[in-house]
Amino acid sequence: MLLPPRSTVLTTDRLLLRPSDAGDAARAFEIRSDPAVARMLSLARFPPDGDETADWFADHPREWAEGLAFRFAIERHDRMIGLIDLDDVSVDGREAEIGVWLEQACWGRGYAGEAARAVVDWAFGPLGLRRIRAGHAADNAGSARMVETFGFRHVGDVAVPSRSRGEEVLQRRYVLER
Ligand SMILES: CC(C)(COP(=O)(O)OP(=O)(O)OC[C@H]1O[C@@H](n2cnc3c(N)ncnc32)[C@H](O)[C@@H]1OP(=O)(O)O)[C@@H](O)C(=O)NCCC(=O)NCCS
Repeated sequence: MLLPPRSTVLTTDRLLLRPSDAGDAARAFEIRSDPAVARMLSLARFPPDGDETADWFADHPREWAEGLAFRFAIERHDRMIGLIDLDDVSVDGREAEIGVWLEQACWGRGYAGEAARAVVDWAFGPLGLRRIRAGHAADNAGSARMVETFGFRHVGDVAVPSRSRGEEVLQRRYVLER
């Protein structure tokens, strides 16, 4: 895989997606302080921890430079409204897992679908991925609809510990091939 430059910006009709960094941690903390957002993210601590969020965002440029994860802040009218990422990139650079979260005020307007379209096209185009994995909690109707729209194939269900809920949740797992 040819490493994409940090100057990569993806634009859609209504959104701008740019590589996230330490400067986005405060907004991310705000968005992830909403229990409705955090409960759908199995790795999210709830309530979020400011230092942990800051450390995570400060590490995004390194993850990108090492080809481990490509994370984009989603902006609408110059304001960060969420994050979309490809992480857990395989060693051969052919496969990654997609994730997305938005502030609740922005749900239901097609933004996640629009951002995901741009990232999937980029991933299967210039980035050269062959396969994208996805997973969502079984009670996440929005994500279920999204994977269906994009043509992801359901490959199974697994019980995973949810940090935000403090219990195991059933996660539905999918793949999308180029
Ligand atoms: C899941 C999430 C990213 C969806 O964002 P969104 O911008 O509201 O999604 P969109 O408006 O692009 O909708 C995509 C599709 O899902 C449908 N949808 C969205 N929310 C839905 C809901 N709660 N119930 C049923 N369908 C829903 C939309 O109608 C749309 O379907 P369509 O393509 O047939 O029109 C957003 O709700 C979110 O950030 N949730 C909290 C974090 C999260 O769940 N992240 C994903 C973890 S797997």
